[in-house]
Amino acid sequence: MNLKDFLTVMKELGFDEIIIDNNTLNQKVKLLEEINKEIQVCTKCDLHKNRTQAVLGEGNPNSPIMFIGEAPGEEEDKQGRPFVGRAGQLLTKAIESAGYKRNDVYIANINKCRPPNNRTPTIEEQEACFPYLKRQIEIINPSVLCLLGATAYRGIFKKETKITKERGNVLEYDGKKVYVTYHPAYVLRNLKEEPTFFEDIKKALELAFKK
Ligand code: URA
Repeated sequence: MNLKDFLTVMKELGFDEIIIDNNTLNQKVKLLEEINKEIQVCTKCDLHKNRTQAVLGEGNPNSPIMFIGEAPGEEEDKQGRPFVGRAGQLLTKAIESAGYKRNDVYIANINKCRPPNNRTPTIEEQEACFPYLKRQIEIINPSVLCLLGATAYRGIFKKETKITKERGNVLEYDGKKVYVTYHPAYVLRNLKEEPTFFEDIKKALELAFKK
């Protein structure tokens, strides 16, 4: 059926408006840009004092999966992109070895500014920043969140956990599936966990892409 016939049939069925998906994508990009502008001048916690720039996140705003890490490290703070240092390269390798591209997913963090010496952001810092992530999740609306490590878990569920206990579990947050795994920086320090991490990333991706 050609487009004209298709539109005629749709009209006969009572539809007088068709929203082209690109509009949604453009709208999402616009809304994400607004958050980016806000975080670049954000002073809600002291982490802004040491940042080169805040790091919003990157990837496909229409992705069915969002990876959530902790906070930018040195390289991320320099480049303004999430997960581009050593840990990020491991995450990218795990995504690619599962047969997907970094551009197929969206990657964000609990905190948008780099903590000094890469320390874990405090609970107050996490909470000050959380509304930005919450808006990102609402805009992108992925069906799966993949939490990378204990800070991502704490940031979403507001309670502490041992990630060795939770990893591999599929949980629920706000109607979305949540897959929990290690932070790739932990995997770099515990290389025997690398195969498990790669398996987890593949399972999370399949949960999102293979319905
Ligand atoms: N670690 C994180 O948690 N996030 C990044 O963006 C980089 C390293």
